[in-house]
Amino acid sequence: MIPAAAPLPLPEAPARDVEVLLSAEEIARRVRELGQEITAAHPGGELVLLSVLKGSFIFAADLARAIPLPLRIDFLGLSSYGGKTETTGVVQITSDLTRPIEGAHVVIVEDIIDTGLTMAYLLDNLATRRPASVKICALLEKPGRSRLPIAIDHRGFVIPDRFVVGYGLDFDERYRNLPFVGVLDPGAAGRVG
Ligand code: PRP
Repeated sequence: MIPAAAPLPLPEAPARDVEVLLSAEEIARRVRELGQEITAAHPGGELVLLSVLKGSFIFAADLARAIPLPLRIDFLGLSSYGGKTETTGVVQITSDLTRPIEGAHVVIVEDIIDTGLTMAYLLDNLATRRPASVKICALLEKPGRSRLPIAIDHRGFVIPDRFVVGYGLDFDERYRNLPFVGVLDPGAAGRVG
């Protein structure tokens, strides 16, 4: 039997720039609940978890393991922030799904809905692919910045209007590996790059 690995120490330098908003334990608890919600709400038929890259990769990995149903996981790369803390407003597809979703029950897995521009774009795009249903599961919602209303079916946490990183979320591709979600010190944001 392989012995359980000891927990790794936190990466020190990034953690110094980030104030914890949601601990790893709080996130794990909520992800388990979201998994139960999605399982209970699934109408039957093919279930596809659609993870929006890159930010949702850690959330999707944990959520998938909290849903005890047969399912497929696929990934769609979307980007609109580049190396900035403000959206450019232009959503780019950086990689597409590997298989059609026609007739499938799709659950979009997002790390954060901020202005809503990315999700609005994605919903329009998916509608052309004729899925049986589309639901949205977002770990974080930042209603203070909403520019387009988005109906979230499964919501993890509502957070204040601060720039957050960790658990998949980045600033300029850094901090995704933090095990918690935290607020990035604005001074640190200026130093990264
Ligand atoms: C982030 C996040 C969402 C989007 C939400 O992606 O993962 O997809 O922004 O913002 P919005 O509601 O204002 O559109 P980002 O463009 O930073 O790419 P990434 O996932 O690769 O980090």
